[in-house]
Amino acid sequence: MADPGARPFDGVRIEGEGFRLRAWRQDDLDALLRHADDPQVPRGLSERFPHPYTRADGEAFLAGRVVDLRHPVFAIEIDGEACGGIAVRPQAGERAHGAELGYWLGRAHWGQGHMTRVVAAYVAWVVPALALRRIEANVLDTNPGSARVLEKNGFAEEGIRRAAVLKPDGLHDLRLFGRLFGA
Ligand SMILES: CC(C)(COP(=O)(O)OP(=O)(O)OC[C@H]1O[C@@H](n2cnc3c(N)ncnc32)[C@H](O)[C@@H]1OP(=O)(O)O)[C@@H](O)C(=O)NCCC(=O)NCCS
Repeated sequence: MADPGARPFDGVRIEGEGFRLRAWRQDDLDALLRHADDPQVPRGLSERFPHPYTRADGEAFLAGRVVDLRHPVFAIEIDGEACGGIAVRPQAGERAHGAELGYWLGRAHWGQGHMTRVVAAYVAWVVPALALRRIEANVLDTNPGSARVLEKNGFAEEGIRRAAVLKPDGLHDLRLFGRLFGA
């Protein structure tokens, strides 16, 4: 019987210009905390990414209790340390050809074009790896940088989920982006 805890993508290495994508490891904990425990990082993310980001939060994530690490949930490694993450959550049933994309990068590395290149490399790998025909991403209305990363990677803005998210400062729209692959 297949091991239910098996992580089929553990051996994957995606080498990019100035970064590497690979599965998260237990010894990433300190680097994860250094980059994730920053109030600026989760502002555009869901509440699954807390602030403050505690050691217990990092341990829970690396143990697979926050997101399912059997999916391709990769660390972004720059200068030899994990400083961000990128993942898709595959959908099921009649939506199994689709997946939702999410990503974050430590603030020390913002504004250098890293995430634009990371998304390009990850999408080029994950589309054939999971036989995807569609990738979508939800972007908070306060996050034009993330929208730009998606636009530069060929994603189209498909619509707005109005007042979809309640943040401490009130209700926010979610901008839905999507890109199709294949015939
Ligand atoms: C959003 C994020 C991923 C961008 O990463 P990055 O490596 O700095 O992005 P890049 O340098 O590749 O590109 C950013 C683009 O957005 C633009 N941009 C950044 N901030 C912007 C802003 N406030 N308004 C408009 N455009 C902005 C940049 O100018 C650049 O576009 P350009 O090349 O046309 O000039 C990063 O800031 C991050 O991790 N934020 C926290 C987590 C998060 O919000 N994740 C996304 C959830 S949907």
